[in-house]
Amino acid sequence: MCGIMGYIGRKDGYPIVIDGLKKLEYRGYDSAGVAIMNGTLSLYKKQGKVNQLEQYVHTQKTNGNIALGHTRWATHGIPNDANAHPHRSQSGRIVMVHNGIIENYAALKSFLTTKGYSFQSDTDSEVLVQYIEWYQSTYQLKIGEAVRRALGDIEGSYAIVVLDSMNPESVIVAKQDNPLVLGLNEDEIYIASDANPISTYTQEVIFLQDGECAELFDDGTYHIYDLENENVIPEITTVKCCDENYSLEEYDSYMLKEIFQQPQSVEACISPRVDVLQNEILIPEIDNHKRIFSQAGKIIIVGCGTSWHAGLIGEYLIESLADISVEVEYASEFRYRSPIIRENDIVIAISQSGETADTLAALKLANEKGAFTYALVNTEGSTIARHSDVVSYLNVGVEIGVASTKAFTAQVSLLTMIALKIARIKGTIKYNEYKSIVPQLSDLPGLIAQTLKSNDLMLEVAMSHFEKDHALFLGRGPNFPVALEGALKLKEISYIHAEGYPAAEMKHGPIALIDENMPVFVIATNSSALSKMISNVQEIKSRKGQVIVFKEEGQEFPEEITDHMVSIPKTHELLSPILASIPLQLFAYHAAKLRGCNVDQPRNLAKSVTVE
Ligand code: AGP
Repeated sequence: MCGIMGYIGRKDGYPIVIDGLKKLEYRGYDSAGVAIMNGTLSLYKKQGKVNQLEQYVHTQKTNGNIALGHTRWATHGIPNDANAHPHRSQSGRIVMVHNGIIENYAALKSFLTTKGYSFQSDTDSEVLVQYIEWYQSTYQLKIGEAVRRALGDIEGSYAIVVLDSMNPESVIVAKQDNPLVLGLNEDEIYIASDANPISTYTQEVIFLQDGECAELFDDGTYHIYDLENENVIPEITTVKCCDENYSLEEYDSYMLKEIFQQPQSVEACISPRVDVLQNEILIPEIDNHKRIFSQAGKIIIVGCGTSWHAGLIGEYLIESLADISVEVEYASEFRYRSPIIRENDIVIAISQSGETADTLAALKLANEKGAFTYALVNTEGSTIARHSDVVSYLNVGVEIGVASTKAFTAQVSLLTMIALKIARIKGTIKYNEYKSIVPQLSDLPGLIAQTLKSNDLMLEVAMSHFEKDHALFLGRGPNFPVALEGALKLKEISYIHAEGYPAAEMKHGPIALIDENMPVFVIATNSSALSKMISNVQEIKSRKGQVIVFKEEGQEFPEEITDHMVSIPKTHELLSPILASIPLQLFAYHAAKLRGCNVDQPRNLAKSVTVE
């Protein structure tokens, strides 16, 4: 993972780099560092977050028209000052930041050791900067050529920015399988892991392609070439200015802000796709490819984490409405078996960030096999969006909290519309049913606002259970993935061990865990499964489990077998997972806060997982 920010031009680069790194902290936040060129090359790095680096640097001289910065998510080597980037070559002449993994670092390290090199860190990245120096000094190469030759020997993935103190008017950048964006202005160039931190300054960008290197000069000119040293004419793209509000407003965390934004974010996802007057769903990505969608052999959905959970709900919706067989695959597993993908299959890749390495790799495999690929992503211009045949954006704005909340409800809303749209094209849904569900989509933002009123109750539930070590989440049908998602939210931000199960599976094993210390969250908003869920709750209560039931308003549920009952506004059964997930987000948030956890930046995690 890791975030890279750089500047070369006429201004002071340091404040630009620090501002950008703060916007890239979603990619990792265990240590951070900067290198600044101001005649000499100054390097500061520190374990901890970007604001800790800022405090560390604040008494130092930071002016200089070239600056590189890095915020790290550790792969090789623990989070500490030495392993933080930038890394410096043995002579001190070359400095580099890296996002990715150098898979053959051990062999290169042994080779360099025989040449007299020693290492200050445990990272694979330091090996690369030393290797670049070895090429440069052995063959007396210019820095760009040394980088190009060194990269020719590299196995793995990288986005790198390299600074040579003997060439203080330029920097070298290169990328393979990790993103790097160049922002162009008249007499300056910005470098970043995504376009957001750049778009504050310029909207003209180049998304560097795999296998490309570039030399960027301090007068704003550049030269792009590939690893064979062939010149590349880049495509210049205009991105939207990211005028996202990064302020917390009245909230104590981005996660809480994003939970409470959901009426607006779901509205932003749904309303451009619903023609209220005609009562029709409009998805150009499907409307323009009607034949592909109506004749699809099967649909394969790939994603990771929360996006995979959304995919599981999508499976339920598409199979039940559109009568197409759907497989949902962990993207990380998909390409390591021999998945059967035929040319009339559709592969849907779901990703909030659009940069998840596993999902991208699965998507590339699907492209190779000739499937029609369809990305559902949030980040415009992201790598997954650019590698798909068609893309539908979630439109929910930047999601900053590491725990995905507003992206999940938008993913499920979008999948619901996709299922309805395909069903309509194929004629597998009765016209009256279609006409009755579509207006209910437009009611969702209001119902989400009502559901958020459960906040106080969820605080009360959290106060009863935040000191527990374990929790179970149960659901049936489309609420089973909601249970999985509730469990994931809880474990990732509160560090309470939690499991999600299909409710009926409980008796096949997990029931052995139930005692008076086990809170069990039962998502029972789907009325078709209600009587069976009541039986499951009886089984839990008979074993002294503590039961928190989520039911639909107006539904009868025996109070004597529950400890807490949470009512969710009534909606169509297929839409209820969207509402049911919200109090679970609130519970995870409150439990984590009561345990003193950092909900926005939980330990060991990063928002965008760009390594395998
Ligand atoms: C969500 O709360 C998680 N932090 C994580 O599981 C995430 O959903 C996963 O890494 C996939 O990310 P993506 O949607 O950006 O591809």
